[in-house]
Amino acid sequence: MKKLIIAIDGPASSGKSTTARLLAQKLGYAYLDTGAMYRACALYSLQKSISITDIPAVTDMMASIEISIRNEQAGNRIYLENVDVTDAVREEHISKLASDISALAVVRTQMVDLQRKLGNQGAVVIDGRDIGTVVFPNADFKFFMVADAEVRAQRRWTELQSKGLSSIFEEVLSELIERDKNDSTREIAPLRAADDAIPIDTTKLDVDAQVDLLLSYILPSVEDI
Ligand code: DC
Repeated sequence: MKKLIIAIDGPASSGKSTTARLLAQKLGYAYLDTGAMYRACALYSLQKSISITDIPAVTDMMASIEISIRNEQAGNRIYLENVDVTDAVREEHISKLASDISALAVVRTQMVDLQRKLGNQGAVVIDGRDIGTVVFPNADFKFFMVADAEVRAQRRWTELQSKGLSSIFEEVLSELIERDKNDSTREIAPLRAADDAIPIDTTKLDVDAQVDLLLSYILPSVEDI
């Protein structure tokens, strides 16, 4: 069976992570959530009280950061210095900081390196912002997921509610729009669709339909599944 690299990029809450995770399960592939890696860098900067405008301090911080991704029964878990921070990094106050820290060259170079190491054997579904454009420009499949901002904000709001984290819908929406702007206008590896990416609009699709749609592109290229 061919071990594909499947890249899924798109703006915040466009359905990437859930779809990528379920797709990986169906294919028996590993799943790599690259957003969680930038989120872990953001959390670490908070823990160490490092301002992300202090580049020498961020550079030192990146020399000592220990991030590992483990595919466990509970799914893809991210560890920071051997502590499971998978849930902690999803909190709302980390989102904007992750977007800001991910714009720094010293952070991106190191994370992209790690992502390539983890993914280059194939049999992996990777989601992020620059997977199809920068990390794996030769990925076997590249999808670019989009959805209306209101629908994406509703998903994010529901995710926060389900975790018992109260939030105001309008704030979630404006934070999301702000973060998309931040991610698509930065100098290094901005969020954009690769020229050969397949566009997927998830506005009117539920998760099962998203997974089925991606599988309809992928399955003809995979034997023995
Ligand atoms: O996918 P996410 O919302 O968990 O990502 C958090 C932030 O990390 C996002 O706003 C931008 C950054 N990011 C990135 O720059 N490149 C990636 N491949 C993944 C995430």
